[in-house]
Parts: sequence; structure tokens; C-alpha cells
Amino acid sequence: MSIPKQEFELDPSIIYLNHASISPWPKRTKEAVRQFAEENCRVGATHYPRWQQKERELREQFKEVLNAPSSDDIALVKNTSEALSFVAYGLDWKTGDNIVTSSEEFPSNRIPWESLSTKGVELRQAAIHTDNPEQALFQHVDNHTRLITVSSVQYASGRRMNLEQIGEFCRKQSVLFCVDAIQSLGALQSDVQRWQADYVMADGHKWLLGPEGLGVFYSTPDARDRLSLSQYGWHMVENAGDYDNPAWEIAKSARRFECGSPNMLGIHALSASLSLLLEVGLESIEKRVLDNTHYLIEAILAAPDLTLLSPVYPAQRSGIVTFKPVNADTQALFQTLRRQNIICAHRGGGIRFSPHFYTQKEALERAMEAVRQFQALN
Ligand SMILES: Cc1ncc(COP(=O)(O)O)c(C=O)c1O
Repeated sequence: MSIPKQEFELDPSIIYLNHASISPWPKRTKEAVRQFAEENCRVGATHYPRWQQKERELREQFKEVLNAPSSDDIALVKNTSEALSFVAYGLDWKTGDNIVTSSEEFPSNRIPWESLSTKGVELRQAAIHTDNPEQALFQHVDNHTRLITVSSVQYASGRRMNLEQIGEFCRKQSVLFCVDAIQSLGALQSDVQRWQADYVMADGHKWLLGPEGLGVFYSTPDARDRLSLSQYGWHMVENAGDYDNPAWEIAKSARRFECGSPNMLGIHALSASLSLLLEVGLESIEKRVLDNTHYLIEAILAAPDLTLLSPVYPAQRSGIVTFKPVNADTQALFQTLRRQNIICAHRGGGIRFSPHFYTQKEALERAMEAVRQFQALN
């Protein structure tokens, strides 16, 4: 695969290993925003139908990225947390129901479910730090389990879950299946149909290389019919735009989750970012991402003074590699890397590296050399 290097304009003094937080934009995304701003200044919304066309294009792009059956299953939302809350506050809970998740979830996939305790709903958190994290989840399921919700990839450890296996289990047990895909979408291939997922959500600013504040919420027709709505407005009805007609009904499509005016600026930006990912190809991207992970894991395992916190087992690997020094202070290592413009994160008690497909091997070598130098001095 040839990397479209002209698309990445990162300051050469920076080594950016933080795509699991917020990613730099490709050049075409900057251009899309610049052009949209210019058009707004010069002619306002004169060409609004063209903007709506861009919105439709983005839904089609998400359909492809997720392998969704239809773009009608795609809602454009504010962020992952909003979509998770739509599910948490849309389902008709009964006292005594429970939800099963993992103990490694980012707060967005824990807090909405925990907040349901006021309705007598229990959140069960399975310890998944094992060779078989899926089985660990299944052990917590009983006759009162209504939903399993997991991240496709855990934000701190980078543990990748076998979503197909979980989806299969959920189907057999008549349990709903919800996937927070923010840490894999754009890095690893997705297939909501093979996962048999009912709800899948993600935001655009991590591996999808877009701006913050625009995310995707996939739902199957049956699964979305099970959600009561909490936000209403002109845009979420079947006849949106027919303003003089007092009669309305909720849109059949996932647009029902979009109550008002769309985030057109974000739509232009994210559509540009997705066009790059789709041009490069999601299969090639996944391969490059996992090659980078392989390089980092080998380098960490070869260093006796470093402990790998991410899984070694290939099926559980993702774009995230987290490690810590055996004896030295992790925060001190993090600060040292930051001073050297190696942009990464301090998560789960370790240093989290998250390079993307376009990250060069040389950048990884330099980052690992900086870690070795720190270790030599501490
Ligand atoms: C697994 C996971 N879910 C959700 C989020 C937050 O998503 P949002 O800001 O789109 O709600 C993050 C951010 O780091 C995350 O890692």
C-alpha cells in the first residue's frame, strides 16, 4: 500500500502517537473546511441542496465503513456518549433487569448504564483481563440480562473483543448487543452485520481522522423501534421540510435520532476524512495498523525493564499499545516523552501509543529510542 503522504502535514518535530485520543486532520479535511467557510461567507446557504447531498454522501460512506445494510440505519449524532444515552434512556427497563459490560470500559460506556440504577437496573462489569474475555462476559448473563454493551477495543489496554462471538451469543440468548466502536472504526475493519449488533456508535475525531462533535449511530430497524425518543424537532419526522403541515410522524429511518439542523460544517469535514480512508482501503489500513502494533509489542517485549499492558495474543490486538516501566515512574516517562514532542497518552497506569496507518516506522523507532534513553537514566 502506498501512503498518501501529501495528505499529512504534521509538524516534522512532532511524533504523533495519539490517534486513540484526537487525530490530526488530513489535508483534504482542512481544504473542505476552508472551502465551506468561504462559501458561507460569500453566498451563505444559497447552495443548501448541495450541502444536503454531502450529508447523504456521509451516510453512504458510513454505510460502507460499517458494512451496514442501508444508509437508513445511520444517524449522525453529536458523539458516542449521546448515542449510548439514546439506547440507555430509550429502552423500556423493568426493575431487576441487568446489563453486562466489561470492567475496562471508558466512562461513556459505563456512566449511562450506571445511571439506570434509579430504575432498579443493575450494571454487571466482567473482569476481561483473561485469555477469553468474551466468556468472562457470558458468565455474568442470566435470565434478567437485557443487553450486553462493550467497546470493540478497550481505550486503555487496547484489548480487541471478538464481536462476532458476542453477537452470536446475544442472538441465541435474545439479549440486545451494543458496541462502542470509537476505538476501532477507521483503524480495524467493521461489519455490523457479521457482529449481529443492534446498536453501534462512534465519534469522528479518533481513528476516522475527523473533527470532534460529529459521530455515527447505527441501529437495525427492529432495534431502533425499541427505543423511545427523548428529543423531538422538525428534522426527525417523516416529512421533514414540509413545515406548513401540522401532521407528523416519526421518521422510519435512523434520522429519527436527529432532532434539528445538522452539523453541516462537521459533515463536510468528516466526509472528506472518510473519503481518504475509503480510498486507501480499510483492509490495507487495518494491516498497516496491526504491523505498527506488532513492531511496538516486539520492541516492548524485548526490553526487560518494560511491562506490556496490552494483550500479546494476536486476536486481541488493536491500534493501541500500552506499557509501563518496571521500576521508574510512568508519569515521569510521560512528561519526558511530551518534552520531546512525542505525543501519546497516560492511560490505564501506562503509556499509551496509538499510531495510525500513515505513521512511519522511523517515528516508532524514535519513540522507542526515547523510552530506552529514559530507562537508561532512571
Ligand atoms: C471507548 C470510548 N468510548 C467513548 C469515548 C468518548 O466518546 P465521545 O466523546 O464521542 O462521547 C472515548 C474517548 O476516549 C472512548 O475511548
